[in-house]
Amino acid sequence: MFDLYTMKENKEKIAWLTSYDFPTAQFAQAACMDMILVGDSLGMCVYGYKGTVPVTMDQCIVHCEAVRRGAPDVVVVGDMPFLSYQASDEQAVMEAGRFLKEADVDAIKLEGGVRITSRISAITDAGINVIGHIGLTPQSSGQLGGHKAQGRTAEAAKLVVEDALAVQEAGAKMLLVEAVPPEVTRYIWETLDIPVMSIGAGPYCDGQLLIVSDLIGQFQAFTPKFVKKYCNVAEVITNAMKEYVSEVKNGSFPDDQKYCYPMVAGEEKKFIELMK
Ligand code: KIV
Repeated sequence: MFDLYTMKENKEKIAWLTSYDFPTAQFAQAACMDMILVGDSLGMCVYGYKGTVPVTMDQCIVHCEAVRRGAPDVVVVGDMPFLSYQASDEQAVMEAGRFLKEADVDAIKLEGGVRITSRISAITDAGINVIGHIGLTPQSSGQLGGHKAQGRTAEAAKLVVEDALAVQEAGAKMLLVEAVPPEVTRYIWETLDIPVMSIGAGPYCDGQLLIVSDLIGQFQAFTPKFVKKYCNVAEVITNAMKEYVSEVKNGSFPDDQKYCYPMVAGEEKKFIELMK
């Protein structure tokens, strides 16, 4: 985790990606990813929920365990799901602690600014690295009027900056800013001491986060404006499956040589005799 501070000092950008499973985590480590977020976006990307609200701590822990096994050398961040920290500071500490005890993560992330500073302080005081998340915070998208960019007017931008300052003041080790204009992110980046990361909040910061299912073209429901698709696995996988279906139907897969286990030489004749 603290290598990330050195990266900030050296002006080296931090690459951060979500991951929810063992193989994708292995790919991320092989790609020299600096950080992995086991985001509650797994609700949409893995479970097919409409949003992140139904996601539970138990689901997050299971996915964090798999990711940790796949990427033992990458900074792994557990994302606190809805209602795992909203009730009280004590609840927040206990649930954040589960991520460390059960899934060996390096840090946890939680959504909110001014209104959750006591949670950030309580978790930090328990010795856990906290990453704040402000701007568009999907768990409260109902209150924000949907999945909409935040801080686009001067007044709204001031509120985002107040959230950023509050998160740092409360003890967070890093801040993630989501779907906020680049001008506002830049102000925050130039004002805060902790690393500032962006997802859909422009280039003026210490690094970027993307959702793996967007980056690889796997998530089909919608694509936010800030997403760059680096490949289209949905197409690759669907085409492979179509080819398989067609080969099974027309009998060309498998033939009796390739993709089969032949009998030991001479045994077929004996087998036919035996079965008479
Ligand atoms: O759950 C997640 O992947 C997130 C990102 C949208 C920032 O919190």
